[in-house]
Amino acid sequence: MQDMNWEVFLAPYGQVVEELKVKLKGMRAQFQYESRHSPIEFITGRVKPTSSILEKAKRRNIGRNHIEEEMQDIAGVRVVCQFVDDIYTVIDMLKSRNDFVIVEEKDYISQKKESGYRSYHIIVKYPVETIHGEKNILAEIQIRTLAMNFWATNEHSLNYKYAGQIPDKIKSRLKRAAEAAFKLDEEMSQIRGEVQEAHLIFQH
Ligand code: GTP
Ligand code: MG
Repeated sequence: MQDMNWEVFLAPYGQVVEELKVKLKGMRAQFQYESRHSPIEFITGRVKPTSSILEKAKRRNIGRNHIEEEMQDIAGVRVVCQFVDDIYTVIDMLKSRNDFVIVEEKDYISQKKESGYRSYHIIVKYPVETIHGEKNILAEIQIRTLAMNFWATNEHSLNYKYAGQIPDKIKSRLKRAAEAAFKLDEEMSQIRGEVQEAHLIFQH
């Protein structure tokens, strides 16, 4: 793995991240043009750094020739939504598209992870045009609310700080914080309903 040309290997992944970002931003813009609430608040994307690819390949015992098929998150895009319902709107929109194929779905919203992590992951096979022809690239799309994103960002920092060994006391605090974040999402969904109801009354 030492002698491989990472720049060449990762180029199509960068292309996919950029293309997905453009397309998702296009979806957001269309809602804005129509003065409708956009289910997408913001979008971020990244190509997994080489050091992280190597670390994960080692941890998962993935050989050089299997990285492409077995590492699903080299290309990663994150869609952050205001409300939980928006996540499902985004999922439906992604499912109705014809420019990529969904190969796997991971619902960590109804089935949160042991850490307290919540998010909806969609793994897609995205065809990218290269000068050598079409290449199918796996990409991971993470869809989550602002509250879920806030939690995951902080938990990620702590994991980094403690090199994956977060002390039990902090771990249980994080689990409680995850529940608080979920409660916040639920409360906000209810307020949203109220606001839209008020809007309807006002229009009549
Ligand atoms: P890795 O966790 O990346 O080794 O892959 P996996 O095959 O186990 O997939 P999984 O669906 O568990 O996680 C994919 C990605 O979701 C991770 O790379 C993170 O970005 C995110 N994720 C999963 N679990 C957690 C978690 O407990 N905390 C945070 N902050 N992010 C998580
Ligand atoms: Mg994992």
